[in-house]
Amino acid sequence: MAEDVHESRRPVLITGASGGIGGALALQLARPGSHLVLSGRDASALERVAGQARDRGARVSVRPLDLRDAAAVEQLAATTLHEDGTPAAVVCCAGRSLHRGLEATFGRAHDLARMSAVNLVGTGGLILALLEPMCAAGSGTIIAVTSASARIPAPGWAAYGASKAGLDTWLRALRPEAARHGVRIAIAEVPLVATAMSQPCYGASPRGALTPEQGAAFVARALRPGRTLISPWWTRLAAPLAQALPSASARAAGALARLAVQASRR
Ligand SMILES: NC(=O)c1ccc[n+]([C@@H]2O[C@H](COP(=O)([O-])OP(=O)(O)OC[C@H]3O[C@@H](n4cnc5c(N)ncnc54)[C@H](OP(=O)(O)O)[C@@H]3O)[C@@H](O)[C@H]2O)c1
Repeated sequence: MAEDVHESRRPVLITGASGGIGGALALQLARPGSHLVLSGRDASALERVAGQARDRGARVSVRPLDLRDAAAVEQLAATTLHEDGTPAAVVCCAGRSLHRGLEATFGRAHDLARMSAVNLVGTGGLILALLEPMCAAGSGTIIAVTSASARIPAPGWAAYGASKAGLDTWLRALRPEAARHGVRIAIAEVPLVATAMSQPCYGASPRGALTPEQGAAFVARALRPGRTLISPWWTRLAAPLAQALPSASARAAGALARLAVQASRR
């Protein structure tokens, strides 16, 4: 079967489709002949996106889900397989973030659990539940939306970065075996995008940020056959430095992040 999802009759499942990057991606993929499965917690927001996608000619299934609920994750995978069929692609946009420095983190071990529950365990659980039938079908694409902080640790982003790094490492390790079954695993390391997620830290219109539509177009590049990593040039440059010079790199990343916050608020 062709790997190009635009040519496939199988559905594309998008998590985090109720808004932000995932919502914009759903609309970009919506066209006559496309079949989308939209997921997120907010059912009415999902229905709004679904209505716009249907107006563009897409067939859309709305499947609300809280990724922190393991049983619900299994149920959503089963319902999707039964009602919609084996996905041609699963695009994991859902996520939550947290910016918190060391002193404010003391006594908050649960920050790690909260970040991981959505970004690593919930997302990983859904991927795993759908990867098996995709492998059995012999084709498909899994896309995980991560962040520069997955490979470039920065002060303030420890728990968020750890959850994204965990997902990144897990998927890179699975990739060769999945590929032997015809399933491609791609990672999209998204730069700053003006969404509900970035607003608390960077404000409503951060300088230099992508719009949700630009963020979605960035992620959509990972749907192209053969792609395994979509990443800004500066992440590709800085990630090896973060490995080679971990202390200096983390200090520099922290200073740049502080500058970005200040600049976005001017
Ligand atoms: N914005 C940025 O600057 C930026 C930068 C790097 C990476 N990213 C990554 O890009 C992805 C999309 O983020 P965004 O900027 O579009 O953020 P957003 O507008 O806040 O959207 C996050 C999405 O995740 C869903 N979600 C959150 N918690 C969930 C849960 N427990 N169960 C199921 N769905 C849940 C939300 O839907 P509900 O509220 O309906 O559940 C929403 O649709 C995330 O993975 C994020 O880490 C964003």
